[in-house]
Amino acid sequence: ASAEKGGYEHFMMKEICEEPAVLKATISPRVRDGQIQFEHFKLTDEMVKSCEKINIIACGTAYHAGMVGKYAIEKLARIPVDVDVASEFRYRDPMVNEKQITIVISQSGETLDTLMALREAKKKGSHTVSIVNVVGSSIARESDDVLYTWAGPEIAVASTKAYNTQLAVLYLLALKFAQIRGTVDDETIRYYIDQLMQIPDHMETVLQDKEAIQRFAAGHYNARSIFFIGRNLDYALSMEGSLKLKEISYIHSEAYAGGELKHGTIALIEDGTLVICPMTQDALFEKMVSNIREVKARGAVVLAIAAEKHLDEAEKAADAVITIPNIDPLLAPIVAVTPLQLFAYYVSVMKGNDVDKPRNLAKSVTVE
Ligand code: G6P
Repeated sequence: ASAEKGGYEHFMMKEICEEPAVLKATISPRVRDGQIQFEHFKLTDEMVKSCEKINIIACGTAYHAGMVGKYAIEKLARIPVDVDVASEFRYRDPMVNEKQITIVISQSGETLDTLMALREAKKKGSHTVSIVNVVGSSIARESDDVLYTWAGPEIAVASTKAYNTQLAVLYLLALKFAQIRGTVDDETIRYYIDQLMQIPDHMETVLQDKEAIQRFAAGHYNARSIFFIGRNLDYALSMEGSLKLKEISYIHSEAYAGGELKHGTIALIEDGTLVICPMTQDALFEKMVSNIREVKARGAVVLAIAAEKHLDEAEKAADAVITIPNIDPLLAPIVAVTPLQLFAYYVSVMKGNDVDKPRNLAKSVTVE
């Protein structure tokens, strides 16, 4: 088994360390001569142009990837997007029609609720595009189009590299839709493609900083409760950071939108409560600084995740800062999730938990 882990102690760490390579494998083949190309894609330009709404459906980590997809598609392609948990979507007689595109996201391609939601959307006439990791899985076979995430086998129950690659595919889709609909000019498309192509290198940089995250985890693995607070894409990212931590550390954790802090969460902040604040969205940086002040005034200890260019300001606001390389804020979640995955990993290891096989959880939920 240790050979399978390629010298790593756990599959989860091995899989996190594969992120630069699998992102490259997922992005590069789809970029040709500065254009985004999907092979054998049946979705026509006409369908994209006349699309009135996009539904994104998934469970767990894939659902959190979908939340990022909503921000990216709405910003770039200006198509309204609904993101739904598959088990909610399928049972509420969803208003789906042929003028809508349905994107289904699943690492395994076998999650029962997601598969059933896909069938429901198809039955109602929507074109379906799946973002799947396992080649030939049920969801891949049954959707009209499939865009594979080339993450390779993911063994650890807690999903890591699959999420990063799901985001990469969603950004490619958002850019492709934007190009078709003319909502973004060619120069901007080229700029984002260039930014995407730089991501594998940025990921290497983030992985070189593992020890800083390990040291921080060493001071907090006994926490009773940990909060994640973020705005916009950092809110979506916070949802995933919080889930990762819950899954393998068994520490109670919640993610909140920064603006919601005053509407409840702040009542839970006590002396010493750890609050993790991704602040990768330049336009909302100052708003996050205010949120940090608010929780610190109640005794919170704050870890910020910020771009290198913001290190000084982030250090002034927070107790500790983990930096990510400077990248366009729209794409930041792909890179910024990795410190959160590593934090959950180290906390789980320090608590002596079964990192790769957490209690009560299954890799793929094929029953209701
Ligand atoms: C399970 C796994 C999660 C995963 C979710 C959706 O709960 O433990 O890691 O995110 O299912 O799985 P899928 O294969 O559809 O992405």
